Amino acid sequence: MALRFVHCSDIHLLDLEGVGPTRFLNKRLTGAVNLALHRRKAYAPHLFDQIVASARELGADRLVVTGDVTNLALEAEFELVRRKFGEAGLPVTVIPGNHDAYTKGSARTRRFESYLSAFMEGERASGHDYPFVQRFGGVALIGVSTAIPTLPLWATGRVGESQLERLEAALTKLGEERVARVVLIHHPVMPGVSKARHNLLDLDAFMQVIQRRGAELILHGHEHVHIEGALPGPEGEAVVHGIAAGTSLSEHEGRHGAFSLYTVAPGTIHRAHYTWNGAEFVAGRESTH
Ligand SMILES: [Fe+2]
Ligand SMILES: [Fe+2]
Repeated sequence: MALRFVHCSDIHLLDLEGVGPTRFLNKRLTGAVNLALHRRKAYAPHLFDQIVASARELGADRLVVTGDVTNLALEAEFELVRRKFGEAGLPVTVIPGNHDAYTKGSARTRRFESYLSAFMEGERASGHDYPFVQRFGGVALIGVSTAIPTLPLWATGRVGESQLERLEAALTKLGEERVARVVLIHHPVMPGVSKARHNLLDLDAFMQVIQRRGAELILHGHEHVHIEGALPGPEGEAVVHGIAAGTSLSEHEGRHGAFSLYTVAPGTIHRAHYTWNGAEFVAGRESTH
């Protein structure tokens, strides 16, 4: 049976409630200033509510969010996100983005995982959070983490050698079972998409894993822009879709707030894309792979 899910990313829900000024030290200061200048005008949290409502109306089985659910990885932000996911009215799958490990403290305390583990249930190697595998008949969602704390104004990510080994093992096993493999990863996975300060530091190693083991679909966010492409695999290409920020109010081509409805079954991927036109999400292009 097919899995129908809505994909969105980079919702960047902000909640500064109850946050004292002492919290805004180091990198957070930079982030907070940045937010004050840009984010509040450029992103509207209520668009996420619209995406959830659309997912329910469209009869999606699940909502998939590929990271950057917060801005500063604050407890209050994760609490807001956990509440929104819990009230969504359909199951949610989430992976972290670089903003969700914004500081060393948030990463060290595994704040993202401790708040949102209910939305990352699945098969995993014991003692490791990632990757996790959620199976739905002949379809699997494979959640990868690239979230690492970085220097101010940097937004790099890393899968890491040991997670890559576990990912390779999972892709091999699922591939042998002819399961349609949907890899969820925050950072772009095609060369040249991200600038140096934004990129996946072990992109080459990730690409080599896909080249050896394959995947059917790779979904990402991070650059807040619409991206379509493919990575070579052993038996054909893995389709790669990057999606703009779900809550973006941008009117630039490819940067409108967006979500996609996917219908995935072994051997087939159908996508219907929706973008925010300033008043509502409207259906746009459809494609089949
Ligand atoms: Fe983002
Ligand atoms: Fe990001």
